[in-house]
Amino acid sequence: MDPRTRDLAIAIHQALAAAIPTPPPLDEVHSWIAIPPDPELGDYALPTFKLARLLRRAPVQIAQELAASITLPPRFREVRATGPYLNFFFDIGALVHATVEEIRAAGDAYGTTREGEGQTIVIDFSSPNLAKPFHVGHLCSTILGASIARLYEARGYRVWKANYLGDWGVQVGYQILAWRRWGDPARLEADGIDYLTTLYVRINELAKSDPEIDAEARQIFKALEAGDADCLALWERFRNITLDSLNHSYARLGIHFDAFDGEAFCERNGLSAAVVTRLRDELGLAVESRGALVVPLDDLQLPPLILMKSDDASIYATRDLAMAIWRWDNFHFAKNIYVTDQRQALHFRQVFEVLRRAGHEWAERNVHVPFGLVKIVEGDQILPMSTRAGKMIRLEELLDRLVAAVRQIVEAETTRRADLSPDELDRVCEAVGVGAVIFWTQAHGRRNDLLFDWERATDTRGATGPYLQYAHARLCGILRKAGGEVPSADATASAVLNSAEELAIAKHLRDFGSAIQRAADAYEPSYLAEYLLDLASCFSTFYARHRVLKQTPEITAARLRLVDATRIVLAKGLAILGLKAPERM
Ligand code: ARG
Repeated sequence: MDPRTRDLAIAIHQALAAAIPTPPPLDEVHSWIAIPPDPELGDYALPTFKLARLLRRAPVQIAQELAASITLPPRFREVRATGPYLNFFFDIGALVHATVEEIRAAGDAYGTTREGEGQTIVIDFSSPNLAKPFHVGHLCSTILGASIARLYEARGYRVWKANYLGDWGVQVGYQILAWRRWGDPARLEADGIDYLTTLYVRINELAKSDPEIDAEARQIFKALEAGDADCLALWERFRNITLDSLNHSYARLGIHFDAFDGEAFCERNGLSAAVVTRLRDELGLAVESRGALVVPLDDLQLPPLILMKSDDASIYATRDLAMAIWRWDNFHFAKNIYVTDQRQALHFRQVFEVLRRAGHEWAERNVHVPFGLVKIVEGDQILPMSTRAGKMIRLEELLDRLVAAVRQIVEAETTRRADLSPDELDRVCEAVGVGAVIFWTQAHGRRNDLLFDWERATDTRGATGPYLQYAHARLCGILRKAGGEVPSADATASAVLNSAEELAIAKHLRDFGSAIQRAADAYEPSYLAEYLLDLASCFSTFYARHRVLKQTPEITAARLRLVDATRIVLAKGLAILGLKAPERM
């Protein structure tokens, strides 16, 4: 139930209880309260049709009687009967005041709840592959996953952030083979993951014309699986180098993981083998089919889930089954969330279904959060994103480019640059350039394909991260101009702000918690992004029509508090989406 209308529901319920011996339950009354389509009809409305039977009167009459008998809760000025509806109107001054005070008292905790307290959510995101490039699809997973994690943290859950590395498989054989053929230690030292990618692309190129390569790579992987010391040492070295490079990027993005246990973890700890034994020998769910071991799912018109190939090699799906079970055993999660592109939708359906058939009642707590494809626009070209072709944009390069673009914009505006020290300027450009990537990646509905357009992503007048960061810096600027101290409210301060624009901001600020909730429930950070854009635009409308400074002392003080409350919510919202909010830009 919406906490914002709880006291209104109680007031209506009390009026009903005075009129009839058995009023409908409070929660039911609460659920009838709606927001009228036309603001002329008030801030909330209650249709009275549903009461006609109970009260044995016409809805129009019920509306009139209730309007006369209700004691309005604070923050409301009027209730009016309009046909079969009760319309409620805020006391604008009181609402703005109460909202602002609530936000300033709660500070950073405003909009958060503790409903998830004591529960753990596991979220598997980013999860790139050792010896395969980190591509923009991983970037999407990284950014969306981190935001979904923060959304649930804002609702009081403990969130376990799992980076499920793709660090086991024939591709590791390819990587080791490439290294043995061409490896240059100095370049590996210098370029880390990028050099590994170069080698990986090169060996795959060669494999196209030379079938021996694949056979040899498989041989090497077999040796690795069997515990060959030299292979293991190389695997570990490549894994560490990959992690170092990744951690550098994750730090730039402000993301931290709780674990990097991935596919190798499942294999090397016998988790996959245990799943195979259970599904085949104990449950009889797995059967032989053309030399492979599979769980048939044809009753659901799904292809079978393959547990083991004919060469006895376990595969991706088996490891995901094993890891889900491991996570359940260790966390008893409320949800186990996977963020990957939509091409893995079938895979996760199969995995979740097999877990269900294996009798795990927690199978329905698994969630796949898919997202669309990513394309990068450059000029009038769309860059192809194929993994093996090696033509993709690297993550660091993407971030660097956007940071450079932001720097150009900032440096062109000498007046703005003037109040920033060179260090501050560096920090701001980094925050805004990275922020542009982070915001753009999640501002559209995640199921749609993402067209990454750097020019539009950095436009401070568009629906972008930089626009919101700029709006935030402007709020800080207003507070700075006022001397930095926001005068606190005294008893007489309550009713001075009563314009439509101030009401619009206050109402919007009150929606923050529900925006967080909707975004978390739908695994859709774009809802919060949209909310913040609307908030910034409410504020712009206000600021175009009203002045904060140099008004009567009461009005200036009250508006400074409103500015401060808006700043708090904007900064918190940006933080949940993973953006920094510099105070000056
Ligand atoms: N490594 C995979 C890829 O790059 C993503 C892994 C997603 N997580 C999982 N548990 N399967 O496509």
